Amino acid sequence: MCGIVGYTGKGNAAPALIDGLYRLEYRGYDSAGIAVEGENGIQIVKRAGRVKGLECARGLEGHAGIGHTRWATHGAPTERNAHPHAYHGIVLVHNGIIENAYTLREGCLARGETFVSDTDSEVIAHLIAAEYRGNLLEAVRAGCEKLKGSYALAVMCEKERGKIVCARKRSPLIVARSGENLLVASDLPALAGEAEAYALGEGEFALLDGDITFYDASLSPIQKVRTEFDASTELADRGGYPHFMRKEMAEIPAAMRRTREEAEKTLSLSPLYEVLCQTEYIQILGCGTAYHAGLCAKTFLEATCRLPSEACVASEYRYRDPIVPSNTLAVAVSQSGETADTIAAAELAKERGARLVAVTNSPDSSLNRMADFVLPTRAGREVAVAATKSFNAQLVALYHLSEALARAKGKPFSPLPDLSAAAEETLLRSERVENWIKSFQNARTALFIGRGADFCAALEGSLKLKEISYLPSEGYPAGELKHGTLALIEDGTPVVAVLTCARLAEKTMNAVHEAYARGAHVFLVTTFLEYAGREAVRDAVLLPPCDGLLSPVLSVIPLQMLAYFVSVARGADPDKPRNLAKSVTVE
Ligand code: M6R
Repeated sequence: MCGIVGYTGKGNAAPALIDGLYRLEYRGYDSAGIAVEGENGIQIVKRAGRVKGLECARGLEGHAGIGHTRWATHGAPTERNAHPHAYHGIVLVHNGIIENAYTLREGCLARGETFVSDTDSEVIAHLIAAEYRGNLLEAVRAGCEKLKGSYALAVMCEKERGKIVCARKRSPLIVARSGENLLVASDLPALAGEAEAYALGEGEFALLDGDITFYDASLSPIQKVRTEFDASTELADRGGYPHFMRKEMAEIPAAMRRTREEAEKTLSLSPLYEVLCQTEYIQILGCGTAYHAGLCAKTFLEATCRLPSEACVASEYRYRDPIVPSNTLAVAVSQSGETADTIAAAELAKERGARLVAVTNSPDSSLNRMADFVLPTRAGREVAVAATKSFNAQLVALYHLSEALARAKGKPFSPLPDLSAAAEETLLRSERVENWIKSFQNARTALFIGRGADFCAALEGSLKLKEISYLPSEGYPAGELKHGTLALIEDGTPVVAVLTCARLAEKTMNAVHEAYARGAHVFLVTTFLEYAGREAVRDAVLLPPCDGLLSPVLSVIPLQMLAYFVSVARGADPDKPRNLAKSVTVE
């Protein structure tokens, strides 16, 4: 989490830093700050809130600087806790978490040093300052040796003009050259269009001082190979839509189509086929929306391939001493490919003998690098914090993986339909959910219910709603309502029932009637016209015909749309919900 940037060159640093930070806001937007080295030393400007608060600093003069956009871990999202942090001429920005910060800080306090923030990062400036003997690079290395946890750092020093030292451990950092300008960034979007980029390796250092020199952990200079990055990392724009989320929902059909083509290509490769033939157990790992995609896939896999499988919350998996039977295929699902919990879970599954398939939307991601096989989603860049098109693309990829598994295992399997045209139609039919928002706008809680695959879609609908509209909601198995959650229902409580599995439809309707009888406003997302007209149903989105096991790829669309409309109606920002970030790179 957090985005860091650095610039040293011939031009003015401030505009380059601020523009770079805008492009990294998906990594956090609690506070922002820059430090620019001018004629009279390093000047720091920080603000609580988004990067736009730094516009007042665009005119700062100076040819070198560093910047930061924060997702708060230690310390409230205030100006005082914003980066850069400075101590005795050392100025730095940090992305990551320092796990021994408290102990290190106690040591500094015992030496009489004082702190001005509550962050774990400030102590790094103290450590480097204590090690400084006229060589910033050596001081950074010595300081880093004392750190436990994760860090990507860009450090400047009042006494060494024009220099930036970079270091990283378990947090990404890219260094780039563009003509006479040298740049640092947490991720490529901040460098969009730059010519020559290098990913700093684990434990490596870089010195930007007129040119870039790379060093290994013991400060011996090393040569690095330029990193080839996918052109799709270009900076995205809203393309005329009011929000990225709305635009990204419109892109769902294309994302599904491209992912299907990609899956057909990738899954025909023989090395993966051999692994699939041996697979006897499947663990799907992911967080948030990616976990929900895993749940949908598990339901589908078990029903169609009859292979035992589980969807695992990645942040739990790593701490539960998981059993990984022989011939397990671990499938790590992640839009970013950088989610710390998913990476750690995937590492553990591999350590315990599983073969690893990464299903990611980011060709250059850490997960892809560690996986035995990559099954890409081709959703295109997703900017809104709320995952939409990436979820639909993940489902398509996972359904195709299931199909390949079935074939490898000699199980009968009907060819997967291309549902992208149905998704197009669903988008149009979903517009009507704008009429539902009256029931949601001032509600105290909302419920999403379903059975089987519909329950998986309900979970995702609920996550989307609470994430961007801040309305508490629950995704619940329809049959479980009467075991406690029904008590939440009062006059006007909105309940969305997802109903696409013929076998389970009447059963879900029982729950609908139970909720309606207690005053709920029931809305339906269904493939069955006969239920849409029932008295208990206030309104419905009728989905195009679709197999109930595959239906989450369609039924989620009106739910995403609903969350979007409610968010806007409640005055929230659907693209940048409070307290969150797009890429969760800390534990
Ligand atoms: O990049 P990932 O897919 O690994 O991210 C996982 C979750 O953080 C993510 O899906 C999150 O739940 C979304 N913001 C939900 O909309």
